[in-house]
Amino acid sequence: MLTGELKRSRQQHPILFPQLAETMLGWAEEALGKNYVSTLIDGYIAFVMDVNQQQLKYEETGKYESHSYAEVYDRTYSQREFMEKYHWGVYVTTFLWEHHLRLHAYYLREFLPLITEGQQLVDLGAGSGIWHFLTLQHSKNIHVTAVDISPTSVAAAGRMAQRLGLSAQTDYVCADAITYQGAQPYDSGISCFLLEHLENPQGLLDNLARQIKARSYAFITAALTAAEVDHIFEMRRESELVQMVEKAGFRLCSLYSATPLTPRPRAKFLARSVGMVLQKRANDIW
Ligand SMILES: C[S@@+](CC[C@H](N)C(=O)[O-])C[C@H]1O[C@@H](n2cnc3c(N)ncnc32)[C@H](O)[C@@H]1O
Repeated sequence: MLTGELKRSRQQHPILFPQLAETMLGWAEEALGKNYVSTLIDGYIAFVMDVNQQQLKYEETGKYESHSYAEVYDRTYSQREFMEKYHWGVYVTTFLWEHHLRLHAYYLREFLPLITEGQQLVDLGAGSGIWHFLTLQHSKNIHVTAVDISPTSVAAAGRMAQRLGLSAQTDYVCADAITYQGAQPYDSGISCFLLEHLENPQGLLDNLARQIKARSYAFITAALTAAEVDHIFEMRRESELVQMVEKAGFRLCSLYSATPLTPRPRAKFLARSVGMVLQKRANDIW
């Protein structure tokens, strides 16, 4: 399983794959020490087993299995053992899944140039912190506040920041991203792969808009028709996301829908990941 995906990503992205994989493997080694490879493999296998099982059930029933955020929280984000694997499983998908490599390329190309020195950035649902670590690699002189509801992920991301010498540029907060409130409005915001985990994703987009200054930029990603044990909100079309971001007060600057190049032949649902660069409107004029 792992070798097949490695080969595919390497063949399709001969430059981007080695660059991102090398960087992220190096960071994992810093954070985890000499057994980092087995931690990454264990996490990835546990994560992908769940993804495959849930997607098969979804193909049969046409809906996600989980409906209650409270139940998902009790089974997943609050459980240290579960999150220790999940955290690294999600981390690996960033460089191993071919369509996630393309999403990363989109982030580099379309969002990072909007981040300027001295900015305060908020990362809602930061998880392993990978999206803000990549941002800090690009702009050293910014400050990141990372918010996540899982104590295990907050501790692990904080540890990685410390090992990478980024403690002064980062703060980690264990809180609900829908209600989190920063002391001051931020200069930019990101929220990657959290919307589909919520009963009310509109609440997250509304809060992201509240947390950043008018005319500031935000970056979001979401999974569409992709079942996982903690996915609750099913989005079938890119347009559903567009409507939600506009309702929250954002202008859509660009959208990239990363679709796997090798979908299952007879599948009804094409699991895909969407990225968007957004700008908070300053008033009602479009
Ligand atoms: C799929 S992971 C994405 C992590 C990271 N943003 C990434 O893209 O690699 C989802 C993350 O959202 C966190 N999460 C779930 N519900 C949340 C909430 N209500 N507020 C903040 N974080 C939440 C989970 O703990 C998990 O770390």
